[in-house]
Amino acid sequence: MVYTANTFIAKVDRRNPDHQVLALAGEILREGGLVAFPTETVYGLGANALDADAVARIFAAKERPANDPVIVHIHALEQLEQVAVEIPALAYALAEKFWAGALTLVLKKSDAIPLNVTAGRNTVAVRMPGHPVALAMLAKAGVPIGAPSANRFSRPSPTTATHVYNDLNGRVDVIIDGGSTDIGVESTILDLTAPVPTVLRPGGVSLEELRAVVPSLAFHPQYLPEDTQSAPAPGSLMKHYSPNAELLLFRGKPDVVITAMRKTADQYITEGKTVGILAPDADVLNFEGLNIQIALLGKTVAEYAARLFAGIRALDDVHADIILVREPDEAGLGVALRDRLLRAAEGKVVEVHEHTPEDE
Ligand code: TXA
Ligand code: MG
Repeated sequence: MVYTANTFIAKVDRRNPDHQVLALAGEILREGGLVAFPTETVYGLGANALDADAVARIFAAKERPANDPVIVHIHALEQLEQVAVEIPALAYALAEKFWAGALTLVLKKSDAIPLNVTAGRNTVAVRMPGHPVALAMLAKAGVPIGAPSANRFSRPSPTTATHVYNDLNGRVDVIIDGGSTDIGVESTILDLTAPVPTVLRPGGVSLEELRAVVPSLAFHPQYLPEDTQSAPAPGSLMKHYSPNAELLLFRGKPDVVITAMRKTADQYITEGKTVGILAPDADVLNFEGLNIQIALLGKTVAEYAARLFAGIRALDDVHADIILVREPDEAGLGVALRDRLLRAAEGKVVEVHEHTPEDE
C-alpha cells in the first residue's frame, strides 16, 4: 500500500538551520513518520532505521521493491556501534578520512537493525552525510535514519526539494528544503565484508581517493537484472535513474561522437520527435542550428555531477522523446557519472568509431 501524508515543506537556511524545524522533523522521525532531507549528495527519504514499520513506509512511498536495501545514516561515530558489529579497523580509518561525507560502508549488521532495512541480508550500509542540515536533523532525531534517495523508484535521484515534491507529494510528512545538493550524485558504496574491500557503486568519493587509503581496492559495480535477489547490490538495476524519454549514451572520440550525435538528432527531428541533448557547456556550439532542447552541464566535472539529474528531469519536463549524451571522461567523479548515465540509458551505448562506413 502507498503511504499517504499531508506533505509539509519547511525551508531552512543551510548555514543556520532553524532548530525548531529540525527538532520537529526529529520527533516525526522518532514517531515513525517520513522526512525528506538534503544531504551533500542527493536528497534522502528518511525513517527511523530501528523501526521496521517506519522503514516499510519508505518502500511504500517510493514503490521500491523490498529486495533493495536502504542506507542507514548516522551523525556521530558512537552510533556506528548501534548499527554494525565486528567493525574492522579499516572502517574507522575510512571514517576518519571521509566522514562526514559521500562514502557508504557495508558492514556486518547489528541485531538492532530490522531485516527490511537490509532486505534480509546480514550486512548493513552506513554513512555519515556531510551536510549541515542532515547532521543537525540526525542529531535531533537521535536514532539512526534509514534513507534511500527521495525519488520514486527508478526515477533520477532528487537534487532539489522540488524534485522530491514532484515525486513524493502526499507520500512524505515533511520535506526539508535546504536548497540544491552539493555533489549531485550519490555516495560511493564500499563493501568491507567482501574478501577484498570492493566498491559496489561509484559515487561522490572517487576511486583515486579511496585507493590512496585502500591500495587493494576492487571495483565491481553491479548491473543486475531486476529479478536478482542474492547479488551484492540489488538496487543497482539496469533500469535506474530513468527519464521518461529514451536515453542514448554515445561513446568514442569527442569529435566523431558529436558528428554522430548531430546525425542522430537530425534523424529523430525528421521523424517529428523532440530531441534533448545533455551537454557540457563547451559542446554546445557544435549543436547550433539544430531544433533541439539542451540541458547544460557546466564547465567542470563537479558542475556536470551537480546538474546531471536536474538536467534529465528538465528534458523530461519539456517532453523530450529521446535524450542524447556524450560519455564523459573517466577521471575522478567521471566514473560515477558514466555509471549513472549507463543506467539511465539502460545499457544502450552507441559506440562511435573513427571511420564508420556511413562517413565514407
Ligand atoms: O548518497 C547516497 O547514498 C544517498 C543519500 C540519500 O544518502 N542514498 C542513496 O540511497 O543513494 P539508495 O537507496 O538510492 O541507494 C542505496 C544503494 C542501493 O543500491 C542498495 O542496493 C545499496 O545501497 N545497499 C544498501 N544496503 C546494502 C547492503 N547491505 N549491501 C549492499 N548494498 C547495499
Ligand atoms: Mg536511489
